[in-house]
Amino acid sequence: MTTPFSDRIESAIDVALRRGQGGDAPVKLGAALHYACAPGGARIRPTILTSVALACGDDRPEVTDAAAAALELIHCASLVHDDLPAFDDADLRRGKASVHRAFSEPLALLAGDSLIVMAFDVLARAGNAEPTRALSLIRLLAARTGMPMGICAGQGWESEPTIDLGAYHRAKTGALFIAATQMGAVASGQDAEPWEELGARLGEAFQVADDLRDAVLDQREMGKPAGQDQRLGRPNAVAELGLDGAARRLDAILSGAIASIPSCPGEAMLAELVTQYARKLAPRSATRQKGA
Ligand code: IPE
Ligand code: IPE
Ligand code: MG
Ligand code: MG
Repeated sequence: MTTPFSDRIESAIDVALRRGQGGDAPVKLGAALHYACAPGGARIRPTILTSVALACGDDRPEVTDAAAAALELIHCASLVHDDLPAFDDADLRRGKASVHRAFSEPLALLAGDSLIVMAFDVLARAGNAEPTRALSLIRLLAARTGMPMGICAGQGWESEPTIDLGAYHRAKTGALFIAATQMGAVASGQDAEPWEELGARLGEAFQVADDLRDAVLDQREMGKPAGQDQRLGRPNAVAELGLDGAARRLDAILSGAIASIPSCPGEAMLAELVTQYARKLAPRSATRQKGA
């Protein structure tokens, strides 16, 4: 999603990546790090994070930028690992070969690991200017990355004999959206807690929309393999509710998301952003095909 602050996000990610490629570093792993993160996808998580930070005043933009970059680095790492044969065995990501296909499995594992460590290093460096905010940001991102309620937990559900769809989606996808709203608030010196609900609702909306896209779009439109949920037997909103039901669920969640925006100077701007985001989320061909 392009916004007036997209350049800020790209440049913060770029600074982190360059730092990770310096010195005597192995060249192929350095290239794999860059390949995994740039060009990016929709950058929706750092966009939400920066929007919330702006809505709360954005009084320390360098802390906001560090938080946005760290969150996107974790997301990119999760995609590199998710595409590996041990997980979804996907050959395509963001319209190009997945990292293990373009480089190798060992390099994809190491690239994901390095990006995770890099994310926390970016936040630790922000501690030079704002130690209290940086410490909170590190704890928030750690909570939403690992166990028991981060993306590791989400991926872990796929190894259980039965999957609780709500818990699976909350951890696999919702976690980084909650991190986005809470980290945006904390980067601007506000409390994290009031921002959890908005993040959870945006994450849920995103997941339902992703399930809809997976069911109705083709590989070219998605830039990644389509029909994965059905192929891998993963529980998903379309299987549970049907296409119409999933589209209705998406509308209901987004209305709830707007209602849950905490009171802040940029409340109206955030409501407008969620509305724009909603328009982008539902693929037009899903709407077209859902009644067919
Ligand atoms: C894909 O996320 C992974 C899921 C949680 C479904 P995005 O659709 O945000 O991926 P990019 O960053 O735009 O490629
Ligand atoms: C990826 O979920 C979620 C994480 C990497 C945490 P999916 O496997 O459903 O997403 P895509 O379809 O590969 O983007
Ligand atoms: Mg997966
Ligand atoms: Mg996948």
